[in-house]
Amino acid sequence: MGRIRILADAVADQIAAGEVVERPASVVKELVENALDAGATEIRVELEGGGRTRIAVADNGHGMDRDDAVLALERHATSKIREAADLTGVRSYGFRGEALPAIASVSQVTLETVPGEGEGTAITVRGGRMESVQGTARRAGTSVTVERLFFNTPARRKFLRLPRTEARAAHEALTVLALGRLDVAFRLESDGREVLDAAPVSSLQERVRQLLGPELAAQLLPVSGRVGGIAVSGLVQRPADARPAGRRTYLVVNGRPFRDSFLVRAAEAGYRGTIPAGCRPTVLLEITLPGEQVDVNVHPAKLEVRFRDRFAIERVVEQAVREALAPMGAASQLSGAAAPPAGGGWGGPRALEAAVGAGAATEQAVPLSFFAPDVGRAPEASPSDQRFLQVFDTFILLETPEGIAIIDQHSAHERVLFERTMAALQGDDAASQRLLLPATVHLTGAQLDAVRRHRELLERIGYEAEPFGGDAMVLHAVPNPHPRFDAQRCFEELAADLARDRFGALANRLERFAATFACRAAVKAGDRLSPREIGQLLDRLFACSLPPHDVHGRPTIVQLPRHEVERRFGRA
Ligand SMILES: Nc1ncnc2c1ncn2[C@@H]1O[C@H](COP(=O)(O)OP(=O)(O)OP(=O)(O)O)[C@@H](O)[C@H]1O
Ligand SMILES: [Mg+2]
Repeated sequence: MGRIRILADAVADQIAAGEVVERPASVVKELVENALDAGATEIRVELEGGGRTRIAVADNGHGMDRDDAVLALERHATSKIREAADLTGVRSYGFRGEALPAIASVSQVTLETVPGEGEGTAITVRGGRMESVQGTARRAGTSVTVERLFFNTPARRKFLRLPRTEARAAHEALTVLALGRLDVAFRLESDGREVLDAAPVSSLQERVRQLLGPELAAQLLPVSGRVGGIAVSGLVQRPADARPAGRRTYLVVNGRPFRDSFLVRAAEAGYRGTIPAGCRPTVLLEITLPGEQVDVNVHPAKLEVRFRDRFAIERVVEQAVREALAPMGAASQLSGAAAPPAGGGWGGPRALEAAVGAGAATEQAVPLSFFAPDVGRAPEASPSDQRFLQVFDTFILLETPEGIAIIDQHSAHERVLFERTMAALQGDDAASQRLLLPATVHLTGAQLDAVRRHRELLERIGYEAEPFGGDAMVLHAVPNPHPRFDAQRCFEELAADLARDRFGALANRLERFAATFACRAAVKAGDRLSPREIGQLLDRLFACSLPPHDVHGRPTIVQLPRHEVERRFGRA
């Protein structure tokens, strides 16, 4: 007699349960997804003992008649697909017909359901065995109550954490789904205490405020981008508010939440250089693309998906995030109670206009010189037409439509020079100035070595340097980024920085070099600038791709919102 046997259904269900039902949070996820698939507009979740004792999910969806209700508890019984081809572009959360029987095989389940027309049914199942099928007085929708989870699989039960921990995980599972479905009302009660109550809303910002709190909601900037059939929308945290710990990442593809560390990394790449090393921004992104470009049937609990062209999606995400950080609204805010960013929700129309210098970004990269007299290029309605004031010989106060912008002159100039240097490194050489009397600098061995290694880059930005024996080098030509520029000192500082790789955190060698030069060549705090110089600096700053952020991950601009000023004076 052979050794191979077909497993009894009950055993097969328990094995499936091992993959689908890991803890109370997974039960909540499966039951809420079923409620959403049933078209529910109100979903209520109750937990007892973190879900170890009892989990109940009630919805107002279309319900089931008696035959369907009995079938629903059988393995591979699903109303959502009929053949394998239906999996392509499947829009329902469920499609395997596995969740209910898997849950019922490791717990005690009571299913109560009422179809649109006809009588309601109550079914109880214990450890996968159907115990009773009766009528019920329930009026509409479906409720599924799961008691004594893992009562018959002690090994699993042992892995459960404290009720508090399990409740938190279940809360998070519901949050993930609620962020993806703004049109549905969600409630969560844990041991009789209401922990979540989210009515339908019309924008993702409002949803974030309901679920994650107003403080985080005020730190988010709208994202929207599209390339070909791939669209990205959502919210990302203002760089100045990113912290090393406690960030949250939520991804949705075609309405389905999923996890993907590579996409999160692509979003972070969009922040490049705008946040200090080690800080991690919160991101909420929804990707919309043709159904055949994503396979949702690759993970036992459907927590991951597979993209046909992952690289294209990563590029769109990175680009869209970078664009979200450019407007003035992305600048760091002085008040905690910042105004919510303009715009709609997940997938809705979104229009955050760059408050200042909106048209300026189209300006072509210009030569490295920046205080040079080519002001004629300044775009119309540029910030330099507005009122500003230099204070402490370090900051520039600027009036903007939204309030008062405080600009750090060194950081701002650094951002300008960084972008120009990058343009010079990647394209035309920068204009430089030949010295009538070559200047001599003295360097250490390591610095001489660093200069030798960066020789080509130094030439591209305008430095022509030649060894002169011993520790000396002569400079024949130097860049000329602004009249206050001290070419000799900058060269020495640059050599020192390059020797100890001060910008090692930036992945790209060109960026590292450009950041180093920009930092050393920029005007310093304490330099008094003329109004004309300030005007030009502002024009150049707002023509940059990321004006609000310097190259160290610090802000160049801090905003004091007008409404905040008005509020303080009791005018709003
Ligand atoms: N709350 C509900 N309201 C109405 N019908 C439901 C509800 N929950 C489940 N059903 C029905 O029961 C069937 C089985 O549910 P189950 O979760 O086991 O499978 P599924 O959702 O089809 O697929 P998956 O295993 O991928 O979740 C569903 O296809 C649906 O027809
Ligand atoms: Mg399901």
